[in-house]
Amino acid sequence: MSKLWGGRFTKETNKLVELYTASIEFDQLLAKEDIEGSRAHVQMLGECGIITTAEADQIQAGLKTILQKIENGKVKFLVEHEDIHMNIEKLLTDEIGPVAGKLHTGRSRNDQVATDMHLYLRAQTKKLIQLVDHVQAALVTQAKTNVDTILPGYTHLQRAQPVSFAHHLLAYFWMFERDKERLQDSVKRVNWLPLGAGALAGTTFPINRERVAELLDFEMIYPNSMDAVSDRDFILEFLSIASILMTHISRLSEELVIWSSQEFQFIELDDSFCTGSSIMPQKKNPDVPELLRGKTGRVYGDLIGLLTVLKGLPLAYNKDMQEDKEGMFDTVATLDGALNLLAPMLETMTVRTNNMRQAVTQDYSNATDIADYLANKGLPFRQAHEIIGKIVYYAIQKGQYLLDLSLEEFKQFNALFEDDVFEVLKPENVMGARKSYGGTSPEQIKQQLQLAESKLLN
Ligand code: ARG
Repeated sequence: MSKLWGGRFTKETNKLVELYTASIEFDQLLAKEDIEGSRAHVQMLGECGIITTAEADQIQAGLKTILQKIENGKVKFLVEHEDIHMNIEKLLTDEIGPVAGKLHTGRSRNDQVATDMHLYLRAQTKKLIQLVDHVQAALVTQAKTNVDTILPGYTHLQRAQPVSFAHHLLAYFWMFERDKERLQDSVKRVNWLPLGAGALAGTTFPINRERVAELLDFEMIYPNSMDAVSDRDFILEFLSIASILMTHISRLSEELVIWSSQEFQFIELDDSFCTGSSIMPQKKNPDVPELLRGKTGRVYGDLIGLLTVLKGLPLAYNKDMQEDKEGMFDTVATLDGALNLLAPMLETMTVRTNNMRQAVTQDYSNATDIADYLANKGLPFRQAHEIIGKIVYYAIQKGQYLLDLSLEEFKQFNALFEDDVFEVLKPENVMGARKSYGGTSPEQIKQQLQLAESKLLN
């Protein structure tokens, strides 16, 4: 089959080469963006008198028809035409004849593909921002009903200090808030227009890049044609943001897995979000959070993959750069799937408040508070820490918790202890006493919740 670039060649392309170098199998995902970019380009060509308005209109109409055909599944893309750009140009030729050949005036596939990728990533980033926001909304919903739900807070996965479950969930809210901000901020840089850069050096045609930027709603035009066709840092940035976002999703997923284990029993995931075992009838497995955790690896892989592709490339375009696509598509799809599942899974989980509450009565996570208690009575904190350490050891030996000890026992360790120590030791009071800004006391959490709600987009 004759190639769009066939003039210089005396032989047919080797079939294996054709297969190996083609990208149509994956870059057909860019069909809509490719047509969008072409339509803006051709409109500008017409307006600038580079082609006639009649020709521009004919090409416009042809591109519209092709888009409809693609959307209705009426188009078969061919490997012989290598990529989405040349497939669409072929389709256009079939549709409107030789005038289709004027579309590529003053343009190269190099600035064309970069433009497609910018358009694609801009649309996807905006979608993903909404999905992150849905997850945040789900966290807020659960947090609102769990302000007074106490559970152990951990460090080193050892019981540390009791916290509110709302506080724990909102910690993730803020991680996602920063992810959302990063995505929003990245749009600024995705909004640079490469089209008009030509193959690498610009074009001899009197094009109007401002007009194309306006038509495609770009905020900025790459001021350097070589940069425009060579870099993919806007994709690297997206993959970096996605990797951080997946880290957050993965940590939350890990907690959901742990919390729903028989050992913890802090939450129960809805049946509709779990799966069973083919051999063990009793099993209810948290496959979804496990997979969310697992899929984090591929997103990191996509980032490292593209970093590696780009690191040794001389300017300007190199075919290596065709490898920028599958990882990006994969990460978009992975995030889309993860965020779409995470929100309803969080909304439908049952919080086992009693088990959480019971856990904080069976540990020593109130120990800091009686160290503070002695410090408040004038003892240097270090000394208080030492004394409470001894009391904890004493209680452990007796197989008791701090609230089980008598005032006499406390007094054996220090005369400053009074009856009010038992109030201080109650988990509610331990949690409620952390009134510092950003702390876990219910009044602080209510403030935090207000701020969190103000960050939700809809
Ligand atoms: N399919 C190519 C890619 O994705 C389009 C650009 C091709 N440019 C070229 N000079 N071969 O990178």
